[in-house]
Amino acid sequence: MKIGSISENQNLEKRIAITPEMVKKYTSLGLQICLSENYGSHLGIKDEQYIEMGVKISKDEIEILKSSDIIVQLGMLPDDKSLNINENQTLIGVLNPYNNKEKLDRLAKKKINLFSLELLPRITRAQSMDILSSQANLAGYKAVLESFANFEKAIPMMMTAAGTVPAAKVLIVGAGVAGLQAIATAKRMGAIVFATDVRMASKEQVESLGGKFLTVEGSENLETEGGYAKEASDDFKKKQEDLLSETLKKIDIVICTALIPGKKAPLIIKDNMIDNMQAGSVIYDLAAIQGGNTAFTKVDKIIERNGVKIMGESNILNKLPISASSLYAKNMFNFVENLIDKETKKININLEDEIIEKTLIR
Ligand code: NAI
Repeated sequence: MKIGSISENQNLEKRIAITPEMVKKYTSLGLQICLSENYGSHLGIKDEQYIEMGVKISKDEIEILKSSDIIVQLGMLPDDKSLNINENQTLIGVLNPYNNKEKLDRLAKKKINLFSLELLPRITRAQSMDILSSQANLAGYKAVLESFANFEKAIPMMMTAAGTVPAAKVLIVGAGVAGLQAIATAKRMGAIVFATDVRMASKEQVESLGGKFLTVEGSENLETEGGYAKEASDDFKKKQEDLLSETLKKIDIVICTALIPGKKAPLIIKDNMIDNMQAGSVIYDLAAIQGGNTAFTKVDKIIERNGVKIMGESNILNKLPISASSLYAKNMFNFVENLIDKETKKININLEDEIIEKTLIR
């Protein structure tokens, strides 16, 4: 069996799906690897390094797509590439089924096996494959660094002979994987950290990291059985708005991470709230690509409103692509290993396996 991966459009995506570290592991599964020329060269990984490990490097991307039993990527392939995949081949990646419905329908009709890793169930057995967690964790960390770099004051409290510099106050909106890492990172740098979420389970997690949880009083716990957030009611939104409007007057940096799977990101930080913030404050919106958690977020732009900088990035993982690729490639390998039958060494689409059943697009 052959596994292949072709270069992504590096203006949009700098991560790779097969790192040299994973080559031996795929080989021991009995898979032969084929990658496009200069696959990892932008990350300092030369083709020779792959070739020495037995990988075939090819200039012909179409040939890689046509001949690989399994194709592993980051995002969805562009149309001119994906039309080269045929019946019984398998494509695995973050295929974004909510936005790529038509494209995926077309491929599924051709009887291509499509697996989208953002659909993985959050169960213990799937943790080693969980790209949402591995990437969100890095995104939360990097959002703190990026926002702090754009904040024109110091973060930790400093008592000096020339006077005291107060500690910066940071608010994390959404305390999921990215939010929790953002809390831990901001705390390590000496900030005073507040956080809020619609899921009450996150309160204890925020507090265990030294953050102060802002509870929307008198509101229900908006958590689905799968542990995700439910869309907030108007009553909840009003109470949350009142709470955050007051809090934001004293906050220096806001990191927004609030998401609802399959839906547009909730609008949480409204224009009047931003108008009441202190000039010089920074908002970093990790939800930018899903529509943003603030009224002014623009993808890949820094917007200034009354002296408040609002930052939104399309793909923050492009700012640490080596770490992000390393974890993504491991997640991907663990998924492929689970998909391959140990004895026959062939793909086994066992729909009784919850991991396979949930990620397969039909
Ligand atoms: P996510 O990326 O879908 O959303 C980020 C956060 O935003 C969530 O905590 C969500 O509750 C919050 N949020 C949504 N709407 C909001 C609003 N209006 N105001 C404030 N906050 C809002 O979430 P993520 O990080 O993927 O985590 C989802 C769940 O999955 C959590 O329960 C987490 O503990 C769980 N999980 C389980 C894992 C496992 O393997 N068992 C691994 C990773 C996460």
